[in-house]
Amino acid sequence: MKTALTGIKPTNIPHLGNYLGAIRPALALSESYRTAYFIADYHALTTVRSPTDLRRFVYDVAATWLACGLDPDKTLFYRQSDVVEVFELTWILSCLLATGQLERGHAYKDALAKGESPNAGIFNYPVLMAADILLYDTDLVPVGRDQKQHLELCRDVALRFNHLYGETLVVPDALIGDAPLVPGTDGTKMSKSKGNSIPLFESSKTLKKAVMSIATTSEPLEAPKDPEGSTVVALYRQVAGDEAAQVLEAKLRAGGYGWGHAKQDLLEALEAELGPKRERFHALRKDEALLDRLLAQGAEKAREKARATMDRVRRAIGIRG
Ligand code: ADP
Ligand code: TRP
Repeated sequence: MKTALTGIKPTNIPHLGNYLGAIRPALALSESYRTAYFIADYHALTTVRSPTDLRRFVYDVAATWLACGLDPDKTLFYRQSDVVEVFELTWILSCLLATGQLERGHAYKDALAKGESPNAGIFNYPVLMAADILLYDTDLVPVGRDQKQHLELCRDVALRFNHLYGETLVVPDALIGDAPLVPGTDGTKMSKSKGNSIPLFESSKTLKKAVMSIATTSEPLEAPKDPEGSTVVALYRQVAGDEAAQVLEAKLRAGGYGWGHAKQDLLEALEAELGPKRERFHALRKDEALLDRLLAQGAEKAREKARATMDRVRRAIGIRG
């Protein structure tokens, strides 16, 4: 069985875009792949400066994965920082990469273009990510489009390693989701930093407030409405599926059905999808000792795999044996 691996940075409490765009598709893979899903806390350190926030976000992300259906008996579930071997591999890989390749990194280049002075963590970010992937003999990495360049660099460095030292590392493929980006309440990409998020696990009341705030056109109730380009319809399609979305579109086109009704239908679909997960999330989130225990068990298994890879890598490069 092939291995699929992905990481989520604990930089905030996950929103509906993270769930539909990353978490749900990754969990669907666990039917046909050996899966490893981890919390990339050292990647978050490039931006999160508050220890309290970092600690909180790790638990938020852990409880989110579990509430959404991750089964720690089936999926290797761990915290990046628990497997220190990843830094050893990061160093080894960085010795095989030209600085020019990292200078072309999108995140680094964007920060420079904005006149910021990015920290060296942002510069080296793709190397740590390559180590995350290569340490576990990963075949497939499900990620969003924004991570494509990181995956290319990971493949490059794995190929270079194998070319220099002989077949040692598994060269992974990226699985870039083709689902459209989940729009936020203002119709642009849902993103924590834009304040347009639909929360995953806040109260029904807060969820309702977010849904009711979605921007729509303002035809009278009786008028037929064009579903094309509507944020409500786009969200409904991603939550409830194509078939249900076609029914909603037909109702809008027929007239006598307002945007308020469509929002109500969206709210019901969200409640059906998220309601049971919300309850699980709050029960899990309260029990940090349980989360610690599950992550520690995952770390144990992850470290075993990481040690085996590092034995191979060290031998290949001439550091041991
Ligand atoms: P944010 O943009 O809110 O900071 P992240 O960049 O931390 O979110 O994204 C974490 C994961 O969620 C990534 O795999 C990313 O591709 C996915 N993701 C984030 N926002 C969306 C969205 N609006 N639609 C689909 N996927 C998303
Ligand atoms: N860079 C990814 C993101 O920002 C998170 C991440 C870290 C990751 N290490 C990874 C994703 C390894 C896939 C594989 O979303």
